[in-house]
Amino acid sequence: MAEFTPEQLLELVNTSQVAQGNERVRKIAHRVVSDLFHAIEELDVTADEFWAGVSWLSRLGASGQIGLITAGLGFDRLIDIREDEADQNAGRAAGTPRAIEGPLYIAGAPQSDSQARVDEDPPRGEVLVMEGRILDTDGNPVPHALVDVWHANEKGRYSHFDPDQEAFHLRRKIRAGADGSYRFRSFIPPGYAIPPNSPTSELFTALGRHGNRPAHIHFLVAAEGMRTLTTQVNIPGDTFLDDDFAFATRDGLIVNLQPGVSPNGYESLDVNAPFTRARFDFVLQKATSPDEARPEARMDRVAAA
Ligand SMILES: [Fe+2]
Repeated sequence: MAEFTPEQLLELVNTSQVAQGNERVRKIAHRVVSDLFHAIEELDVTADEFWAGVSWLSRLGASGQIGLITAGLGFDRLIDIREDEADQNAGRAAGTPRAIEGPLYIAGAPQSDSQARVDEDPPRGEVLVMEGRILDTDGNPVPHALVDVWHANEKGRYSHFDPDQEAFHLRRKIRAGADGSYRFRSFIPPGYAIPPNSPTSELFTALGRHGNRPAHIHFLVAAEGMRTLTTQVNIPGDTFLDDDFAFATRDGLIVNLQPGVSPNGYESLDVNAPFTRARFDFVLQKATSPDEARPEARMDRVAAA
């Protein structure tokens, strides 16, 4: 038979098989294809609409912005919500809330012990020192955790993705002390928006949505025997704090800023005038398997699997 109804075609697509393949991939692909077939039929998607969508997906892939779209359409937060639910169902103490990684992490940032200066002279904004400890969910210090920090520059752009910045600009790794303490100096970054004139902005314009993220700083915190934590902290007072394009703002991740802190004791971070400080402790869950303690970021984990 070579003439099909839509349902016959769908059945054939989902049952065609000449080898075992991957059962899980088959199951997920079948569901997604089925949902799209039904969406096309129920919404009466025209041929021009379909091919416009294919064109957009092609341009999206070429632009490297798929990770922006997944965040902007809520998928990244959904995955976090599901992991939170799994923790709750398993009776695991939560620790510091996880928050989305975003698509802009780069492995291999310069590493230093206990503290780091993340920015460079001259300061590109209000000088900020963030400090605290890495703790477990019982409140005990976690020795020698690795704190990977990255944030946008004063124009809202990230090094590696911005040709105007040096490699690893505003990206550092800090090996916390035996008492779990860490600190770093940088500046308070601004919020930023999705790139204009891009496949992402094209969709968001069509959806009537804005593409702004509130000011934030990203972290990946890893330690032996502890579950790797991906999170971000938000700077209070941002217009988009509760209207984040990526839906990533969480209670417990908005830092308190203390302005006018004396520079005494902070000279080794090149701080010589009153500055703004944020104290924040990262609380890690104990890992229940070696896999949970792998220090890789999201994409690196699956790429290495
Ligand atoms: Fe970001």
